[in-house]
Amino acid sequence: MQILHLDSSILGAASVSRTLSSNIVARLVALHPDSKVIYRDLASDPAMHLSGNHLAAWQGAGSPDAELTEDLFKGNSYLQELLESQIIVIGTPMYNLTIPTPLKAWIDRIALVGKTFQYTANGPEGLLKNKTAYIASSRGGMYSPGNPGAALEHQESYLIGLLGFLGISNPAVIRAEGLAINAQFKDAAIAQALQEIAAIGA
Ligand SMILES: Cc1cc2nc3c(=O)[nH]c(=O)nc-3n(C[C@H](O)[C@H](O)[C@H](O)COP(=O)(O)O)c2cc1C
Repeated sequence: MQILHLDSSILGAASVSRTLSSNIVARLVALHPDSKVIYRDLASDPAMHLSGNHLAAWQGAGSPDAELTEDLFKGNSYLQELLESQIIVIGTPMYNLTIPTPLKAWIDRIALVGKTFQYTANGPEGLLKNKTAYIASSRGGMYSPGNPGAALEHQESYLIGLLGFLGISNPAVIRAEGLAINAQFKDAAIAQALQEIAAIGA
């Protein structure tokens, strides 16, 4: 069993999504002690934004510079790690109503036609079969259904849509939201999320 663990918060040790994602991974490893964990800190070590130079290199233009070569290698590793993992754990805060840009840069390297999805006469088909995903979500405000901000929720919904597009349906979402409301609210939201994590597989 291989677990791919991604984090994308810029807050380091103070990050709630990192706390949640690491607890999810610890719980999964406790359930599957033979697991191998591959970790990517996308905030401290992001991939570059895609550029014309990336496209040119993919189309066979020779001699990319050292920085681009390293970045192309990183993108290939992202894809390989994803293909070889059975479980994906994604730590994502909400930034400006959606996911952090380094997580989007990761997606830009793994959402590849012919590798992770394909277009068919019946519509798009995800090629990632038999994988499960956990989303460790954190946000300052309240965006879950029933809240006034719900229509602005483009973080979890985007990620769930993207994973489904690639063939990974029904990811589990562990969420701590309303973290900027006050300390009491924040503590309660985190405690609730940690309880949900403790119940994974129970
Ligand atoms: C650049 C930036 C943008 C943010 N945008 C939003 C936002 O649109 N909505 C929201 O509720 N919180 C927003 N926040 C607050 C974070 O979602 C919140 O602090 C969350 O706990 C961060 O996750 P973390 O603790 O894992 O870093 C933003 C924070 C940062 C740093």
